[in-house]
Amino acid sequence: MTDVPVSIPKSPSVADYAAEGDRPLIPDVEEPYTLLEEWLRDANQSEPNDSSAMSLATVDANGMPDVRIVLLRGLTPEDGFQFYTNYDSAKGEQLARHPKAALCFHWKSLRRQVRVRGTIEKSSAEQSDTYFQQRAPQSRIAAIASDQSRPLTDREVFNQRVAEISSIYGDDDDIPRPEHWGGYKLLPTEVEFWQDQAFRMHDRLKLIKTEAGWASSRLYP
Ligand SMILES: Cc1cc2nc3c(=O)[nH]c(=O)nc-3n(C[C@H](O)[C@H](O)[C@H](O)COP(=O)(O)O)c2cc1C
Repeated sequence: MTDVPVSIPKSPSVADYAAEGDRPLIPDVEEPYTLLEEWLRDANQSEPNDSSAMSLATVDANGMPDVRIVLLRGLTPEDGFQFYTNYDSAKGEQLARHPKAALCFHWKSLRRQVRVRGTIEKSSAEQSDTYFQQRAPQSRIAAIASDQSRPLTDREVFNQRVAEISSIYGDDDDIPRPEHWGGYKLLPTEVEFWQDQAFRMHDRLKLIKTEAGWASSRLYP
């Protein structure tokens, strides 16, 4: 293939940048959480859906990277970035073996990215129970019924499992969390904020956790 296909947009022109106006620079911050909260709030206003979606990168037993999207479900300095999943899934196995991971948010509507690296711990059973109970009953049943990441020969098998589990609970809202499902916390050691600027002269602010607190520096784009 020699030509750039029409489905790949061309680089912005001088006129495109002029039409879009100025873009903000990232403020100086001494810790990442306040700005993360602000950017997540902005994204919640401007993204069409799933503004807390983030890529979660892990490595498998052979050192081969893997990546998929999960939803951020909590963020605090104590418990870091929290998400929920099936502990027996591919990512669950990878995290059990290598409890380190990276996250990446991209908010197209804001032309912003946040990258995070850190260590992984499981959430407490109480935290996972609390979150599980907030989910719609059908979503709880789906979590019980799904052998996430393992082969499904026929979708009808999954439908039948869902029907069987649904008939056990009926209208009862007390559907307990299965042991194979729960939360993880990514405790960040590095957080990088990225804000698009005209002509690819982007702004980057990286924070690295040290014994004395967070150390910040600007990076070339
Ligand atoms: C917008 C979006 C949000 C998702 N959120 C989650 C989530 O919070 N937890 C989860 O287990 N999977 C979520 N998924 C599905 C995962 O991307 C993935 O397919 C699944 O977790 C299996 O990944 P694994 O086989 O690498 O373990 C989401 C997918 C998308 C596109």
